[in-house]
Order: sequence, then structure tokens, then C-alpha cells
Amino acid sequence: MSLDLAGVLACPDCAADLPAITEWGRDGMTCPGCGSRFPVFRGVPRFVASDVYVSSFSFEWNRHRKTQLDDAASRESEETFRAKTGLRPEEVAGRLVLDVGCGMGRFADVVSRWGGQVVGIDLSLAVEAAHANLVGRDNVRILQADLLHLPFRPGTFDIVYSLGVLHHTPDCEKAFRNLVPFVRPGGRLCVWVYGPMGSWQRFARLYRRVTVRMPRRLLHVLCHIAIPWHHLCRPPLIGPLFWTLLPVSRHPNPHWRVLDTFDWYSPQYQSLHTFPEVYRWFRSEGFVDITLLDFPVAVAGTRSREG
Ligand SMILES: C[S@@+](CC[C@H](N)C(=O)[O-])C[C@H]1O[C@@H](n2cnc3c(N)ncnc32)[C@H](O)[C@@H]1O
Repeated sequence: MSLDLAGVLACPDCAADLPAITEWGRDGMTCPGCGSRFPVFRGVPRFVASDVYVSSFSFEWNRHRKTQLDDAASRESEETFRAKTGLRPEEVAGRLVLDVGCGMGRFADVVSRWGGQVVGIDLSLAVEAAHANLVGRDNVRILQADLLHLPFRPGTFDIVYSLGVLHHTPDCEKAFRNLVPFVRPGGRLCVWVYGPMGSWQRFARLYRRVTVRMPRRLLHVLCHIAIPWHHLCRPPLIGPLFWTLLPVSRHPNPHWRVLDTFDWYSPQYQSLHTFPEVYRWFRSEGFVDITLLDFPVAVAGTRSREG
């Protein structure tokens, strides 16, 4: 049985306490405070009515449900999680952890394997992929929810992390600030957002003007160019020129290359940030023990116990 979230849930509309999921009806529950209805569909409690501006991710993560999920052959997501959060298994074990923008659940998978109790939320239908990937684990719960209207009581989580998500919202800083109240005093917040990317970005930005409006299926087919293109981008001198003209993922795994290329060219919102900027966000929210990780732009901090 998945985590029941007793004492954790609150209505995103009126902030009334909501019962544990085990007390919900088969098809959902109605908020006792304001009457808002929260259905359960395909095994996932839903706190939003649609995937609004993240429909590209609904497509992406259901098409690539397992591409980035660790398996016996690869622990790449686990390594990425360590690098972008600075967390170690012993800091996570037994903790209540919130994965904000969980996608298909690759990092929730890591936290679950490390012994954490992890709640994964995402605005997109990626939650269906995450649920399918992690169903049956008693330390995981996946919810469809908006990080700007989280269905939790404040001060609930020992650790909140959000990797590769906040820069895909209309206002990255606002999205960051919205997470702060859900970290318990003394708890840790870890975020990774896109940093400045160099000159290739100019062409990529130009192409995005068209690609974000394309039918998803067509764009996904076009992103298969990343499979051979990667090889043309390797020779010295001529390779970098090819790559600047048409930037695609250079991941060694061809499926991962298609996914990452689609992930770059499809999202509606995409902003870039710097270490000083994100550091200032943490400082201004009173965080202490702020760590700038080696992976740009990954920052973690501890929420002050003093207010
Ligand atoms: C690039 S994906 C990253 C997914 C996952 N963190 C990973 O690295 O595999 C960004 C995710 O953020 C989610 N997202 C964007 N805006 C959101 C919001 N307002 N609330 C919740 N999730 C959001 C998208 O649906 C998408 O799944």
C-alpha cells in the first residue's frame, strides 16, 4: 500500500485539513471546508483539473516512461540526484520528502530506494507514468498537483527538492518562494534550475519559437535527428560548428538523446538563472547553510528554525 499521507494533506483551495488517502472514496473525496472535489483517476489523486501549460511533459514522460529510470545497467539518475541535491542516503532514510515536478518518477525512485518516504507531485499527466513506475512501493505516493497550489499543510516536509522544474513555470522565482512554507523549520530545500548555456543557445532559442507550437508527435519524430546528428558533431573543428547550428542532446544513449532534445525544444516556458540569483532567493527567505553545488545551477539550503 502507498503512503496514506495522514496529517499531511490540506485543501489547495481553502487550506482545510484533508483526510488520509485511505479514507477517500474509490473515486475521490470532497473537501469538508469548501466543497472542492478531488477525484482519483487511474490510481492517482488529482488536485488539478488539467495539465494546462505542461502538456508537452504529459506527452514526453508517457512516451519515455522508462528511458531515464535506473535499472541494473545504469544508476545515472541516482548519480544525478546526488550531484544536484548534495543529499546522501543516510540523510534521506526515514524522512518525509517532497519531489516537486516528479516527471515519470526517476528521482522519487532513488529516494524510495534510499529509504525515504516520498511524495511526488506533477502538474502534467507524467503522474500516470510515475504511478505506473512506482506502484506497489509502500514509501511512495504520486499526486497530480500544481506547485503553486500545493495540497499540503505548511511545515510538513523534512526535505523538499525540485530538479529541472522551476524554470519551466511562468515565474521561476515565485515558484521557488512558493515551496518554502512546506519545508519544516530545520528541513532542507534543494533546487536545480537551468544556468546560462553559451553561444549555441542563440540558435536553439530561435528554433524554439517554432518548435513549442508544433504538434508534439511531429516534433518528437524530428527529434530523432539527434541520433545520427550527435556523431556528426564529434569531429574536431567541424563538429562544434554542426552542433552550434543545430544543438541536440549529446547523451551516449540514443533514446535519452531523443528525450533530452524534445525536452529542450518543446516546453512552453524555459528560463535561465545564475548562482548569485538563486543564492539571493535562499538568503532572502532566511535559509542557512546554503550550498552551491558543482552542477550549475544547483543550490540547497536549510530553512531557519527562527521564524
Ligand atoms: C523537465 S521535467 C523534470 C522532471 C523530473 N524532475 C526529472 O528531472 O526527471 C519538468 C517537470 O516539471 C513539471 N512542472 C512544470 N510546472 C509545474 C507546476 N506548476 N507544478 C508541478 N509540476 C510542474 C512538468 O510537468 C514536468 O514534468
